[in-house]
Amino acid sequence: MLKIGNIETKNQVVLAPMAGVCNPAFRLIAKEFGAGLVCAEMVSDKAILHKNEKSLSMLYVDEREKPLSLQIFGGEKDTLVEAAKFVDKNTNADIIDINMGCPVPKITKCDAGARWLLDPNKIYEMVSAVVDAVDKPVTVKMRIGWDDEHIFAIENARAVERAGGKAVAVHGRTRVQMYEGVANWDIIREVKESVNIPVIGNGDVKTPEDAKHMLDTTGVDGVMIGRAALGNPWMLYRTVHFLETGELPGDPTPREKIDVCMIHLDRLIALKGEKVAVREMRKHAAWYLKGMRGNSVVRDQINQFETRDDVFNSLYSYIDEVEARMNEIVEVG
Ligand SMILES: Cc1cc2nc3c(=O)[nH]c(=O)nc-3n(C[C@H](O)[C@H](O)[C@H](O)COP(=O)(O)O)c2cc1C
Repeated sequence: MLKIGNIETKNQVVLAPMAGVCNPAFRLIAKEFGAGLVCAEMVSDKAILHKNEKSLSMLYVDEREKPLSLQIFGGEKDTLVEAAKFVDKNTNADIIDINMGCPVPKITKCDAGARWLLDPNKIYEMVSAVVDAVDKPVTVKMRIGWDDEHIFAIENARAVERAGGKAVAVHGRTRVQMYEGVANWDIIREVKESVNIPVIGNGDVKTPEDAKHMLDTTGVDGVMIGRAALGNPWMLYRTVHFLETGELPGDPTPREKIDVCMIHLDRLIALKGEKVAVREMRKHAAWYLKGMRGNSVVRDQINQFETRDDVFNSLYSYIDEVEARMNEIVEVG
């Protein structure tokens, strides 16, 4: 099992932190679908210290989501430490994670995110300062390196360990790769072989079989799933079940997908109000509808809607059509 400091998860499956996605609405769904650990979207250290209302609301943790990891990012030691102290004392998160992988120029220009990957000494200095200042276990999520010429994954992970970090999650891509190319699991394995703290592997786990393959071939302690869970929390459930039993549960029906999509929307409404939630749900609805035939009309409609009722009516009339078509096929067959 995965043990991070004093936090033990019930399995090795971790929901990746995803900005604009991993708020309490989706995290709770991920938890209900079996994820052993859920990670929150990244929050700026400076925004926390400026008491930015939106950023502070991103620190909210529902008891049912636990164990949960809250991620912060920053480029300067003082503000990072102060923000970590705030998270430590004022939230019921279980783990404080530091972002060392965000490739976006707006972030790396401020010496935050993936910028750290170029300097193991800075990693040591920053992580040890945070570790010394807080009680909760501190972890780091990183990429393997900045570019192909600067892959310091092993040095960087060792720096995290020396600094007192309790685990490291490794996304097998460089900063320059962004989300292109293929995640390098060999380097994830090398990191696992080089440190004694738990290592969580990440990148391109698209199926439950991929998760098992990553665990088997790299020896990592946990497997982190990001994009494959978008609109598809069944990926988490199916992976947990597959790892535990070797059996692969079937895919959900279109109606099951839409039922969960609506639970997701209702939780987002409770969190952010109807107007914001319905807009934010547009991308999620497209993910839930992915792979369903003839979904472009319903997706276009949802992109215009402003109310929950409109979204509800349009999704369920689409599903009625899908089921009628499926029944016709069965009858004709
Ligand atoms: C929409 C989106 C938002 C993301 N936001 C974050 C973030 O806030 N913090 C972070 O460490 N990684 C973030 N990531 C990276 C993911 O956590 C993960 O490392 C990456 O998607 C690779 O894993 P996957 O192949 O399973 O998707 C984000 C990825 C996506 C697609």
